[in-house]
Amino acid sequence: MKPLIHISLFLLFLSSIFCFSFAAEKYAAIFNFGDSLTDVGNLCVDGIPSYLATARWPYGMTYFGYPTGRCSDGRLVIDFIAQAFGLPLLPPSKAKNATFRRGANFAITGATALDMSFFEARGLSKTVWNSGSLHTQLQWFEEMKPSICSSPQECKGLFGRSLFIVGEFGGNDYNSPLFAGRDMMEAHTMIPHVVESISSAVEKLIEQGALDLVVPGVFPNGCSPVFLTLFKSKEDGYGPQSGCLRKFNTLAWVHNSMLQRAVRRLREKYPAARIVYADYYTPVVQFMLHPENFGFHRQLPKACCGAAGQDIYNFNLTAKCGDPGAEACEQPAKHWSWDGIHLTEAAYGFIAKGWLNGPYADPPIMTSQHPY
Ligand SMILES: *[C@@H]1O[C@H](CO)[C@@H](O)[C@H](O)[C@H]1NC(C)=O
Ligand SMILES: *[C@@H]1O[C@H](CO)[C@@H](O)[C@H](O)[C@H]1NC(C)=O
Repeated sequence: MKPLIHISLFLLFLSSIFCFSFAAEKYAAIFNFGDSLTDVGNLCVDGIPSYLATARWPYGMTYFGYPTGRCSDGRLVIDFIAQAFGLPLLPPSKAKNATFRRGANFAITGATALDMSFFEARGLSKTVWNSGSLHTQLQWFEEMKPSICSSPQECKGLFGRSLFIVGEFGGNDYNSPLFAGRDMMEAHTMIPHVVESISSAVEKLIEQGALDLVVPGVFPNGCSPVFLTLFKSKEDGYGPQSGCLRKFNTLAWVHNSMLQRAVRRLREKYPAARIVYADYYTPVVQFMLHPENFGFHRQLPKACCGAAGQDIYNFNLTAKCGDPGAEACEQPAKHWSWDGIHLTEAAYGFIAKGWLNGPYADPPIMTSQHPY
């Protein structure tokens, strides 16, 4: 018995050393682009603006203990990924006094994949609230470069040892026609433009030396309390098991399929790059269908933080989370929807795990083939 125990202890010891060094040395830095799913405070670097409900208590209550500008009660997927690789949480790229050598997070709440001119041309500028589209964020990245690497070769080397996460993008693009009361068809006609914009951003990063990239798809918004409340349907538009609004999930599904096709094309064009498709859609549907597997309450989608509204979803547009009259549920970890739009730290934790080790990413981020 004894030698066996010794051997297994020794193996355990070895594997923990191995895991640790693997985790600590895998990436030199992480660079993230995105919207409110990954914004870590870019709107709050000069203090919390009074208009921003998502930067008020009880946002941040579970992990940080105060609002950080993250649209959740705690960490986002990007935070869990940074921690999994032994990196510090990425600072918002607009932070005044931060060091960006281990990475930067360019994500900003409201961001779209398409530039403002696209929405203006369609009379949709009122339903876009864009402080930095995807390609604006790429420009910010460009402007930051001199502070993180000092020659084209050095930059290329650094980016080749870094992880780039491009998204999620698209949610706010599609919300624009939908919240303007336009037909679902109009949102569908935008999909090729949105996917092309994401794809060209990935290409620009690869051309600058990026080798490891993650491209996330969009949420099944038909399961979100905000959509269920604002687009309440009298028709038979609900999934029989999930209770989600079908046509919004179809939109997300079509976007995600086209995005995956674009990812496959990019892999063919750039065989040296490793491009992961990361799935936000499947885990949220799993939270709906099998909440017990994640420790969530079984119920129709209900915002943890909010106020009673016209329906059972605990979403009220005039008393959103962070507004007076709204409050958080007792146990956010038992809910996947935090504020009716964004997810709880608990939900983001499960998604991050699924992206890192499977099954919610193709291929899982941890199965990198790149020897560093
Ligand atoms: C800026 O960074 C320096 C060094 O880390 C620190 O000592 C200082 O307090 C920081 N200033 C602000 C305003 O955060
Ligand atoms: C939504 O919240 C507002 C402000 O607290 C409140 O006056 C209103 O009654 C709420 N709506 C419903 C349907 O409960």
